[in-house]
Amino acid sequence: MPKNTPESSRPRTIEVIRREIETLRRELHHHNYRYHVLDDPEISDAEYDRKLRRLMDLEAAHPELADPDSPSVRVGAPPLERFETVRHSIPMLSLDNAFSDGDLLDFDRRVKRHLGVQDEIRYTAEPKLDGIAVELVYRGGRLALASTRGDGLTGEVITENVRTIRTVPLVLQTPKGDAPPTLLEVRGEVFIGLGAFKRLNANRLKNDLPPFANPRNAAAGSLRQLDSRITAERPLEIFCYGMGRIEGEIPESHWEMLEYLKRLGFRINPLVRPRIKIPEVLDYYRELAAMRHSLDYDIDGTVVKVDDIDLQRRLGAKSRSPRWALAYKFEAVQETTRVLSIEVQVGRTGALTPVARLDPVSVGGVTVSNATLHNEDEIRRKDVRIGDTVLVQRAGDVIPEVVKVIESRRTGEETVFQMPGRCPVCDGGVERNAGEAASRCMNMNCPAQIKARIRHFAAKGAFDIDGLGAKLVNQLVEKEIITSYADLFHLDEDTLQGLERMGPKSARNLVEAIQSGKRIPLRRFLYSLGIRHVGESVAGLLAVHFQSLERTMAASREELEGIEGVGPEIADSIRHFFDQEENRKTIQRILDSGVEPFLDFAYEDAGKTDSPIAGKVFVLTGTLTSMTRSEAKKRIESAGGKVTGSVSKNTDYLVAGDKPGSKLKKAETLDIQVLDEAKLADLLYR
Ligand code: IVH
Repeated sequence: MPKNTPESSRPRTIEVIRREIETLRRELHHHNYRYHVLDDPEISDAEYDRKLRRLMDLEAAHPELADPDSPSVRVGAPPLERFETVRHSIPMLSLDNAFSDGDLLDFDRRVKRHLGVQDEIRYTAEPKLDGIAVELVYRGGRLALASTRGDGLTGEVITENVRTIRTVPLVLQTPKGDAPPTLLEVRGEVFIGLGAFKRLNANRLKNDLPPFANPRNAAAGSLRQLDSRITAERPLEIFCYGMGRIEGEIPESHWEMLEYLKRLGFRINPLVRPRIKIPEVLDYYRELAAMRHSLDYDIDGTVVKVDDIDLQRRLGAKSRSPRWALAYKFEAVQETTRVLSIEVQVGRTGALTPVARLDPVSVGGVTVSNATLHNEDEIRRKDVRIGDTVLVQRAGDVIPEVVKVIESRRTGEETVFQMPGRCPVCDGGVERNAGEAASRCMNMNCPAQIKARIRHFAAKGAFDIDGLGAKLVNQLVEKEIITSYADLFHLDEDTLQGLERMGPKSARNLVEAIQSGKRIPLRRFLYSLGIRHVGESVAGLLAVHFQSLERTMAASREELEGIEGVGPEIADSIRHFFDQEENRKTIQRILDSGVEPFLDFAYEDAGKTDSPIAGKVFVLTGTLTSMTRSEAKKRIESAGGKVTGSVSKNTDYLVAGDKPGSKLKKAETLDIQVLDEAKLADLLYR
């Protein structure tokens, strides 16, 4: 801290200190607002930090002068046991969606019909932010309570977490002499910017933490922390877009309300377009769609609101959504580009996957240069040819895919792709089983398969060997130092040091990493073997059911099929794997080198963790939008839940995305709780 503490002749009275503290707090609130809300700071960061440090020092020396709304409290408070819930005084409604200009025009017609007017209606249009809705309650000008939207009627109290968000005012700004409204409820969307999201995930990966699937999940997870000190470290931001109850002057229009909120210190999206007629709303929608990828935060559409609050009141609401507002959603993130070539990759189980090499194109801010074509049938179905112009799509974190060919762009120069008759890597025979989409390289010793098996063995969720990346695996296999994952345990420093980019230190670290991972939970051991259809979740089911490697290896097909979540195909594949002499030998060699699978109850017996998901059986159906299905599965499993393929009386929850099928009907007849994505996210991040 600065050395200007006045230890002068006259001792500072507590009154003087109190005044200094108050001045500092006022100044810091003001500078926070200039910096975070207006994006127009008046002082340097260093000066800000000096003031903040001075304040924190004074507060530490004088705990009797503490104030929960001090600008110094953005660092979080001690953890909570659980979240309290609170009823919103006015329900937090959701919005009807429009997907076409026609839908929007219909909405405009409905509004006019309901009001019995012919005049053009004025709308205020805003970006639709893809974040988490919150409500902030201010009493006497101070932030008294913050809550999530929850089910719209009741939300969870997340005040301490929200206090750490720098763009949320803790104390309302009012012109000198003006009293703040006695009660003010403000609604807005909490989110994480894309740049900050990338940094957050990079950091998590560095610290061996699972990355978030997308900024929305990251924001949801961060808001739902019991320990607000963790929230404080997350780069959360807010844009406010509405009000709940207010005791004080009520604005006459939505736009006036936004301006009023801005004056009080709230952050309002600068792209809001006030008081426009329907043709301009359509223009605005296109403008936003064109610029959405250059914004630093995700938006998924435009929210169109009748501007006049009196008209809003006359229009009222249906059960879940107001009649005066509409969300006009953007289309999925797609782009067109050219297929330069089609290459074939050989996976762990020998499956040949055709991959389109694309002329690199930015899709939703991410450069895409490859897209999976899945298999031969897919290529035929979509009739993708080399040289074609295609529409590619990226959804969340999934591998980009080719949606369709733009046939009008064909020149006749395109060439039809032929699936190779022999493995492109080992030249071994290729077969395609009846009823299967994939062609497979039948040579178990194909270097591509060996490499992929070893990569899988060493990956997260399996043996998780630090320092054994793809490049190193390639070298080890190509130089014939290893031919199977069992050989990893016999690697020594001398051998490793001879390899490219392997110093003595990395060699030592790698050997150590391999040796120290020998005690491994059974579930991970089973997963690491790379048995077809045995992912982390099936491996978990096997571990819990059989509780030992020997029993798993000895299980009959019938016994395997008896496990909920293991179907005939999986059972066959497991039996087939353990029946191969070669595989049994490999496992024996691994065990002989000192590997010890053990039953880790905290890990394997899902029922023992304290997540509300632990031990629960989930079924997923329909298209999920906030994460892919496999992502959802992974997350449920890592919280101790189980995901199975079909609804039965043992199912606890059905997670229904868009266009759910017969599973939803079945769940309803069996009276099984159905969750939408938001509810699933709630459970996941609890
Ligand atoms: S207004 C009654 N404005 O969209 C009005 N909502 O689908 C309801 N959202 O729960 C909210 N940006 O989380 C409004 N500019 C915006 C918004 C917005 C995002 C979210 C909000 C709401 C959901 C409804």
